[in-house]
Amino acid sequence: MIDLLLRNARPVGATEPVDLAVDGGRLVPLPPGGEARERIALRGRLVPPPLVEPHIHLDAVLTVGQPRDNVSGSLFEGIAVWADRVKSLTVADVQSRVRQVLRWQLANGVQHVRSHVDVCDSELTALRALLELREEAAGQVDLQLVAFPQLGILSFDGGRELMRKAVALGADVVGGIPHYELTREDGVASVIYAFDLAEEFGARVDIHCDETDDDHSRFIEVMVAETIRRGMSGRVTASHTTAMHSYNAAYAYRLVSNIARAGLHMVTNPLDNAVLQGRFDTGPIRRGHTRVKQLQEAGVNVCIGHDSVMDPWYPLGYGDPVQAAFVLAHLGHMSGAAELPRLLDMVTANPAAALGVEDYGLREGGSADLVVFGAPTDVDAIRLVAPRHLVLRGGRIVARTEPAQTSVVWDGVEESVTFLRDTRG
Ligand code: FE2
Repeated sequence: MIDLLLRNARPVGATEPVDLAVDGGRLVPLPPGGEARERIALRGRLVPPPLVEPHIHLDAVLTVGQPRDNVSGSLFEGIAVWADRVKSLTVADVQSRVRQVLRWQLANGVQHVRSHVDVCDSELTALRALLELREEAAGQVDLQLVAFPQLGILSFDGGRELMRKAVALGADVVGGIPHYELTREDGVASVIYAFDLAEEFGARVDIHCDETDDDHSRFIEVMVAETIRRGMSGRVTASHTTAMHSYNAAYAYRLVSNIARAGLHMVTNPLDNAVLQGRFDTGPIRRGHTRVKQLQEAGVNVCIGHDSVMDPWYPLGYGDPVQAAFVLAHLGHMSGAAELPRLLDMVTANPAAALGVEDYGLREGGSADLVVFGAPTDVDAIRLVAPRHLVLRGGRIVARTEPAQTSVVWDGVEESVTFLRDTRG
């Protein structure tokens, strides 16, 4: 007798529903006769492995309006507001906000998170708070922490030392922000410094790279070169890279093939960059996204990040990667029949590969970590930003959303509405 039988689940890519058997926290072969202590009827609902959040700034979540509003909504006013908010950070303040958002993420099916953490603070308050939470949340929402120099490495007094201290304290990943450094040369040096530090500590690299509309911002090519020369393929991620949107086609062609050669992971952040980029354009206004489809055609692993939840840069969001995927479907022109299904990969398997998540994916013998969407297909999951009916970690239910009951009164008769094409109503 096994612990749990999930009847009529629809794993991603399966044409027909299947039964999934769980025992001892792992997926196991179906027992003869299907005997199980508990059975749950999933009625053909989509069941992917857990969602993976490759890019968020947890230290800033839920600070929107503190100490003042970002009136213009711009990136630069956001940085100025955050620089003031940082002055009042305490460990308790960071932890209470992050604890809340980690619960939101788990409710959305997210079980692995990479968070950038601002280390331009001599006390490293946010990092210390997050390091404690990494232990507290382990096995529920697994955290990777990036030492992120919001105000630069070379351009911030003591920046190099703070980065080193952050990695020595336990940050998993080395970050950077080369386009924010004072000069192009400082930007190049900051990328090299980040790679040196990562090599020394055996850490991964994830750099905020070319997050600007300036088409002369080309630090991504430095990341490519350092990755190739140091043999760090698969351990390096370039985040945002919005300037790539504006590069000339000849340069972009060469660059994209070199990104593929280097084996870089790429993270695009549709929510924040939709509102932060194009601010100097008077029309037409650039969408501000990296070249997602061109990168994918070259075989590059591209992921979707959420970036912000109610902070000085982005006042909206509730930590749901599917909402970000929905936005990218529009702004990334990914509405083609072969393109829509890719969006779910970009919030599951693709970021799992970028983070190096082990024991990931639905397979016999693997950990029974999975999400049950309140929708039958990957396209419906995106279209409806469908609720996560159940979230399982190690075979146990860790989040539950009861499906909404909607009805209309039509010609005086109350009828249920599901928003699904292949059902009545
Ligand atoms: Fe970011």
